[in-house]
Amino acid sequence: MKVTPRILLALVLAFGGVAASAQPVLPAGQVQSVEVSGQQVRLRTENAHVELTVYSPSVIRVRIDKQQLGRDFSYAVVGKPVAARTAVLDGADEVVVTTDAMIARVNKRPFAITFTTLDGKVINQDEPGLGTSWIGEEVATYKKLKDGERFIGLGEKTGNLDRRGSAYTNWNTDAFKYGTETDPLYASVPFYIGVHHGLNYGIFFDNSYQSDFNFGASNNRFASFSAQGGEMNYYFIHHPRVADIIGSYTALTGRMPLPPLWSLGYQQNRYSYFPDTEVLRIAQTLRGKKIPADGITLDIHYMDAYKLFTWDKTRFADPAGMIAKLDGMGFKTTVIVDPGIKVEKGYGAHERGLKAGIFLKYPDGANYTGEVWPGWCHFPDFTSAGGRAWWRDEVRTYAKAGVAGLWNDMNEISTWGQKMPNNVLFDFDGQPTTHKQGHNVYALEMARASYEGMKEATAQRPFMLTRAGFAGLQRYTAIWTGDNRAEEDHMLLGVRLMNSLGLSGIPFTGMDVGGFIGSATKPLYGRWMQIGAFTPYFRNHAANDTRSSEPWTYGEDVETISRNYISLRYRLMPYLYSAFHDAASTGEPVMRSLAIDYTHDASVYAPAFQNQYMFGKAFLVAPFESTKDLAKVYFPAGQWYELHTDAVQEGGQERIVELSQARLPVYVKAGSVVPVQALVQTTSEKPAGPLALHIYKGGAGTSQLYYEDDGASFAYQKGAFYKRTIGYDASARRIDIGAAEGSYKSKFSKLQLVLHGFGDTAALDINGKRVSLDSGAHAFAGTARTSSVIIDNDSGKIVIGY
Ligand code: NOJ
Repeated sequence: MKVTPRILLALVLAFGGVAASAQPVLPAGQVQSVEVSGQQVRLRTENAHVELTVYSPSVIRVRIDKQQLGRDFSYAVVGKPVAARTAVLDGADEVVVTTDAMIARVNKRPFAITFTTLDGKVINQDEPGLGTSWIGEEVATYKKLKDGERFIGLGEKTGNLDRRGSAYTNWNTDAFKYGTETDPLYASVPFYIGVHHGLNYGIFFDNSYQSDFNFGASNNRFASFSAQGGEMNYYFIHHPRVADIIGSYTALTGRMPLPPLWSLGYQQNRYSYFPDTEVLRIAQTLRGKKIPADGITLDIHYMDAYKLFTWDKTRFADPAGMIAKLDGMGFKTTVIVDPGIKVEKGYGAHERGLKAGIFLKYPDGANYTGEVWPGWCHFPDFTSAGGRAWWRDEVRTYAKAGVAGLWNDMNEISTWGQKMPNNVLFDFDGQPTTHKQGHNVYALEMARASYEGMKEATAQRPFMLTRAGFAGLQRYTAIWTGDNRAEEDHMLLGVRLMNSLGLSGIPFTGMDVGGFIGSATKPLYGRWMQIGAFTPYFRNHAANDTRSSEPWTYGEDVETISRNYISLRYRLMPYLYSAFHDAASTGEPVMRSLAIDYTHDASVYAPAFQNQYMFGKAFLVAPFESTKDLAKVYFPAGQWYELHTDAVQEGGQERIVELSQARLPVYVKAGSVVPVQALVQTTSEKPAGPLALHIYKGGAGTSQLYYEDDGASFAYQKGAFYKRTIGYDASARRIDIGAAEGSYKSKFSKLQLVLHGFGDTAALDINGKRVSLDSGAHAFAGTARTSSVIIDNDSGKIVIGY
């Protein structure tokens, strides 16, 4: 029989409507079968295979594909499911999966998931009419928008703290000169947090294809996430606190290893410092001018014609000698590495790469060639075990020269023209795929190879910086926000980008302080340095065609501001290092958007206040343009001490504050314990005197973990650390200094208490002892009168007076 279109139509109608493949949008359809096995439920729907896995009471993973689910492989996720009580009920209309923390109800007709609390409040639900569906290979899940729902996180994204009404794309992009609205930027983190009606949840969409997120942009019905290929594969996380959602997300994607202490110091940078005498001059000037610093970074001009793993011998005749000299002055050296390996006969790295067969290839086996700094290049395939091993070997040359940090740049991959062909193949660890799936994880795997290579070669904690990356990059590297501009709104945008990265599991973040492109005005530079002192990675950087940008090049006033704030950061180093230890153990960021601790306070999302953040758990930072004389600051619930005056501000209200160029508005939360040391010029210098524990009266009672170790090796993993909990209970007027734990001997032999706001207090209980307070003036960067007590760090004995 000849099948005419008419007969075909009749056949289609007779066999149940439009054939699946002919539907422009293919839904998952109705559930046809259910299979339960322990913490896992597998469902077959009309058009899809579904798997729900309970990862922990608070984390449920959802995988959906048109075909049988394929290899379970991820570059982002390292966490495994843990044993968690799970009850599954397979009813006529729905499958109900209950854990100790939440319920997932899977509607059968059509397939749609609703997540609720144990008492039935809807946290998040598929938009029932839309659910999960495909447009060709593009897969999307649509979630019903809730009344007043806000969306935060999603990594390195411009726009407001609350992303409602906006849409974003994840495709790592060299966004040179990006604007305050540009999207996408360099790194992709497909993880966001939704908040509404006092409920919080996180969704991590683990798919490395280009993905798109729509938080009610051009629609008032749904928030959706989609990818150009691959599976629908997401983790749904629910906790009452945002901090715990970040905790569960980083249990999945990994946490930052403790960075070396020097990397928390000030880093001086330029594109590029050369020759060696210039590098040494910069270092000497910092020391001469008593501007504390720990790092110098070498940009691409250290190389011979931009060829990786080489040195320009006319500029740097003896790299190891120069690096040793810098080391002697308390500076560590970081060098830039780009993935492009110049195609050149006789160039060692290229020859070795060819021999090892580790470059990205076209389907016909020819190496892919793209153009970047050195000219035409091949690119190592970091998604292959062989490519990473090759790179680990190559970076040894830097370790041998004494380099302590690698700055992984241009790894989106950036090539001139910015359009790498989609038919370039990536090994994807044994499951070859195209550029479409490999692109977004390339930088993550480059950072991994760099980190592992330097770690192997030095047996010390290496410092890593990357420009691009994917979810999980925090396991290997810090990230900075790329080529910003020396403009007021860029300084504040940088703050928002870092706050968002912090919400997305990445605690070690920085921006080019002073602005990369263009030249800052004097006030802008001064303000930027002040803010920089309150960011996790503090580096000054400027492009090759800009004026000199070291702190002393903007005149005496700006030099003084820079020195003061860098010095303040160095005095706060014990606090900062403890905050990094916290981040490494919990996944919570160092730079905390107010949305973390004050999630359901609408004011923190107001455009006027959305840039405010906590630096660690004690400091509230209110960053403003340098052009403003007056500004409104929002003080969340609690009490706040102005850092320099100890003036107390009641929370839950906004206040107009007067701004001055010399001061950044910074406040300390009542109840905080802030460990402070004497000023040093580099973290390699031993601070004089005691460790001062600044305690700010008030608050609900807190305890702060003070943490210390050698700041360089991995000995801390074997117990070579020193830590104590310092508890402060305002209502009971007592301070408890916990016993020292770990085998490391603190560099401070005495602890001193510096009490803020205790003016009317004659005595306190300290470790169960009634201690009357003296009235010595121990101001901390201010004029407040405080009282002090000294404690013998080794015995824990309290010694009055000093
Ligand atoms: C691009 C980076 O974003 C920038 O920081 C660097 O200075 C240049 N590449 C030159 O290496």
